[in-house]
Amino acid sequence: MTRFSVLPDPAAVCAAMADLVVESAAAAIDEQGIFRIALSGGGTPKTVYPMLLEPHRRDAVDWSRVEFFWGDERAVPPDDPQSNFGVAYAMLIARLPNVRPARIHRMPAEAPDLDAAALGYESELRVAFGTRGGEFPAFDLVWLGMGPDGHTASLFPGSAALDETERAVVANWAPHPRAWRMTLTFPVFDAARRVVFVVEGKNKADAIRAIRAGGSGLPAERVSGEGVEWLLDAAAAGEESG
Ligand code: 6PG
Repeated sequence: MTRFSVLPDPAAVCAAMADLVVESAAAAIDEQGIFRIALSGGGTPKTVYPMLLEPHRRDAVDWSRVEFFWGDERAVPPDDPQSNFGVAYAMLIARLPNVRPARIHRMPAEAPDLDAAALGYESELRVAFGTRGGEFPAFDLVWLGMGPDGHTASLFPGSAALDETERAVVANWAPHPRAWRMTLTFPVFDAARRVVFVVEGKNKADAIRAIRAGGSGLPAERVSGEGVEWLLDAAAAGEESG
């Protein structure tokens, strides 16, 4: 059952997500000794990352047991300001204690042969999760955002990757700005133990309204695993007063 939580403003949404990451990590590490997370791209994580570095959250997790992956990546080098990895590494991972470099799995979306690089990342997932055959990696937590057009990760409306049912990782064309991306696919999101959308801003309200009404067909609505949750601010939920 998909749950929607509406919080007053972006800061409250991001603090709730920071707490949720810490809670999910502590539970997974306690249960299985490892926590595997797929980080979101875009701008919202830039508010969450500093909150994770606040001592009461930072010191609540054994970061040596956290394995970092990404939901999607732009076709830019890791030091590019547009790089989802670059933002996460500079604002969070490089500032956390005891992170194991071998547990940081960057998507090489700048590779000249993007399809080969996507296949390579899929193999990296297979090894990290110990999956076999047609099994999809089951992330402990997938953290997603949503664009005003209802895209999530780099699964854009009308794009080829929406129909992918076999591959866990594919190259996909982004319409705005026009560029190639690498993205996880719906089967991976649906296999996750927990998926949390973090969505803020008035410009998302139309897509959110359509998704909550059901039957929108928007990519974000098609993420349909058991544990899908939405953290919305009042503006994105269309509840903003005044
Ligand atoms: C990306 C993201 C993308 C993002 C949404 C929301 O690489 O851009 O993965 O799906 O999550 O566009 O972005 P904001 O958080 O900046 O609104």
